[in-house]
Amino acid sequence: MRNKHRKPSAYCSNAGSKYSLSLLTFIIWGFVGCVLMIHFYHIIHHNDQEETEVKLSNHMVTRELEEVEEENFQIPPPRGKRSPRAVLRRGPRKPPTAIDEFLDEASDMRPFFFPGRRNAVDPRKGGNYSMHFYPARIWLDTDGNPIQAHGGGILFDEKSETYYWYGENKDGETYHAHKKGAARVDIIGVSCYSSKDLWTWKNEGIVLPGEETNITHDLHKSNVLERPKVLYNDLTGQYIMWMHIDDANYTKASVGVAISSSPTGPFQYLYSKQPHGFESRDMTIFKDDDGKAYLIYSSVDNSELHVSPLTDDYLDVTRVVRRILVGQHREAPTLFKHERTYYMITSGCTGWAPNQALAHAADKIMGPWETIGNPCVGGNKVFRMTTFFAQSTFVLPLPGIPGLFIFMADRWNPPELRDSRYVWLPLTVGGLADEPLEYNFGFPLWSRVSIYWHKRWRLPQGWRTW
Ligand code: DGJ
Repeated sequence: MRNKHRKPSAYCSNAGSKYSLSLLTFIIWGFVGCVLMIHFYHIIHHNDQEETEVKLSNHMVTRELEEVEEENFQIPPPRGKRSPRAVLRRGPRKPPTAIDEFLDEASDMRPFFFPGRRNAVDPRKGGNYSMHFYPARIWLDTDGNPIQAHGGGILFDEKSETYYWYGENKDGETYHAHKKGAARVDIIGVSCYSSKDLWTWKNEGIVLPGEETNITHDLHKSNVLERPKVLYNDLTGQYIMWMHIDDANYTKASVGVAISSSPTGPFQYLYSKQPHGFESRDMTIFKDDDGKAYLIYSSVDNSELHVSPLTDDYLDVTRVVRRILVGQHREAPTLFKHERTYYMITSGCTGWAPNQALAHAADKIMGPWETIGNPCVGGNKVFRMTTFFAQSTFVLPLPGIPGLFIFMADRWNPPELRDSRYVWLPLTVGGLADEPLEYNFGFPLWSRVSIYWHKRWRLPQGWRTW
């Protein structure tokens, strides 16, 4: 009985202590929880703050480059009047378009599109305007010769902390192999220039020369070698060059591969092929953060692009290939990545004549890719509709300033291809894309890619160490 009586009280006191124990445990855990929550909040908030600070300061650095600069030019009236008979037959002479003027060797606007030697950018001179990029002016190397690196691309070599610019050496006579064929220059080879500051370029010579005598060789001077690009392979320690290889009529439509143990060559030419049995004309290669590399090429009469991962040694394509931008007729692809999104700039297909650039974006490099509009900002409408009278060739990230890139393009000079010019402009990723009207939970999916026109610009101070 006692026990019986006791039990409840014992039970009660047990229950009481259990109750106070669990209350205490609850309070302790609650306290620990609160501390942890405050801690996590602090970490997150701190990271947010850091990110915002970085973004804000990035924005301040790039603000000047994102200023919209207008460009005015007047197309001169048509030269010479038509005779009354010609007017009757063919109507009055149509005013020339900006493209007509651009392509006309005798145009009064020629010095506007291709400024003369007097205005050349010369790294040997220094002065106030040193380190400034002047799109389309003649750009001299450290020996005082015009840089010959057309359709080019840049490799940053981690080992030597040096930039290497590879491109087509077109320092030969421009001629037409056939009456209706495109203007051409015989293959001379791939030039390489080195620089620490992206402005002062030292000529490292021709790292892959054309072939003078063997007519059956891909690099025989009568063929076509365009858009060479080089990647460093971390696994093999080799520098691998990919390029567009063709015959004078552009019917071979292949890619070529060369290899070197040094960024300054000599490169050993390995072979050419039509990847996956498809035509390949304008092309580029891209190395992702995980070391995987990809070939992107215009195919099927330039009506679509193909993306294919390269093998681990970068010497071939794998068997995987995806068709992208099908039916969009784009060429001159150049690929870059920002905050886990892949971007591409392409041109239309109008030979050496300029046309409108388009930007494209994708979550995965293998697609799907979406077209997000014309990236060109500033200048004037004609400038924006013609990619500033130039054609994309490469986009170089500035690792110190995430979101800031250099857009590299060629202003081709079809009557005198060796005198084609370089149009380098700042490219930023941010803000809202104009297209497409695709929404993800009410937010536009893609950021805007903007290429800002500037007559003269320079990289932000300290861009390397930012
Ligand atoms: C446009 C291409 O982008 C250039 O690389 C070159 O192949 C020309 N066509 C030739 O007309």
